This record gives sequence, C-alpha cells and structure tokens, in this order.
Amino acid sequence: MKSKDWLNRQKKDYFVKKAKKEGYLSRAAYKLIEIENKFKILKKSSKLFEFGAAPGGWSQVALEMNPRIQITAIDLLELKIKHPQIKFYNEDFLKFNYQKIERNFDTILSDIAPNTTGHQSTDHLRLSSMIFDIIEVLDQLMITGGVFVTKIWKGSEEKEIIKILKYKFNKVSYFKPDSSRKDSVEIFIIAENYKSL
Ligand SMILES: C[S@@+](CC[C@H](N)C(=O)[O-])C[C@H]1O[C@@H](n2cnc3c(N)ncnc32)[C@H](O)[C@@H]1O
Repeated sequence: MKSKDWLNRQKKDYFVKKAKKEGYLSRAAYKLIEIENKFKILKKSSKLFEFGAAPGGWSQVALEMNPRIQITAIDLLELKIKHPQIKFYNEDFLKFNYQKIERNFDTILSDIAPNTTGHQSTDHLRLSSMIFDIIEVLDQLMITGGVFVTKIWKGSEEKEIIKILKYKFNKVSYFKPDSSRKDSVEIFIIAENYKSL
C-alpha cells in the first residue's frame, strides 16, 4: 500500500471511530459540521430539506447546530434517528410527489450518492444525473434567498452543474472539508441566495 493510501485509510478510520465515540450516525456528519463552521447555514435556517439523509448524521448535526430547525428528509434507506422535528419519507426522490408536502424550504441539502461501480467517470455521471434532477425540483421547494448545499464528484458534468447553479443563485462556492478524503473526487458546492427566476 502506498504511504498516501495508508494515510488516507488512517484518516478514514479516524473519522469512523470519532463518529462512533461521539454518537454520530455517520462519518459524513463531520463534513456538515465543517460546512456549517464556514458558511453558517443551519443556524439561520428554520426549514430544511435533505436529499439522501440516511442513516441520519446530517440530521443530527442540523438539530445540534439549530435546536429549532424543522427537517423534512428523504432516503431509500431508513433513517436511524427519530425526532419530533424530523419528517422522514422512506422513498426514492425521483418518484416522490413533492406536491404532497408543505414546501417553502430555506435550506436544501444533498449528500445523495448512487451505488458506486468503482469506475470513476460512470459514478460521476450517475451522481451528476441525480444532482440535475434535484436542481429541477428546487423551484418547487425553495424560497427566494435560500441555500442549497450539494455533494458532487468532480468530473465532466461539474462545469454544467456550476453554470446552472450560478444562474439560479447569487453566490456559488466550492468547499472541500478536511474530513473528506484528500484523494477522493468528492467536493461540496454551497449555493447561496436563491433568485427564484
Ligand atoms: C452518503 S449517504 C448520506 C449520509 C447522510 N448525509 C448522513 O450523514 O447520514 C447517501 C444516501 O443517498 C441515498 N440515496 C441514493 N439514491 C437515492 C434515491 N434515488 N432516493 C433517495 N435516497 C437515495 C442512499 O440510500 C444513502 O443513504
């Protein structure tokens, strides 16, 4: 194993262990904590929608950062946290009827991820296609001035995703949390101040 690989593995283990010790349902929780420390999104939010929320690490962080936040979350898998402020839909977001929920979300998060094949460009295209689908429903879900945070895997579609988000939001930033493996193509996009065209 190359020393870089070894270091990355160690780092991964470090966050897995840390999550277990600190009671978080996912190591991904640390990524949202870092996003929040830099962008202060959750503290200002009152109504949050989460795409791909299971097992629930991000929901835990959202409630911790803002105990009054109301969360609506969707995932194919079950959420491992039950809380009176979380309304969870155990469904495929592609088939979900968004009309049936109360909308007007000020914050929308996506940590959604397809099953991976290990083939980087295939995985990139799969996730990108999901992000395009999510962007399509933003108009139905989000209020003017809202914030959208999404994970992407870097690759050919990245420019197009950024281009669309720049059209829909006033400010679009990239963020790579320290808790995200350095060698992974994962990066987060923080799109702020939704224009609702
Ligand atoms: C990286 S995990 C999310 C981790 C979460 N942020 C946390 O901290 O616990 C990605 C999630 O996307 C979900 N997912 C993938 N495709 C989906 C779909 N079509 N509809 C809903 N959820 C989906 C997966 O089931 C998985 O739970």
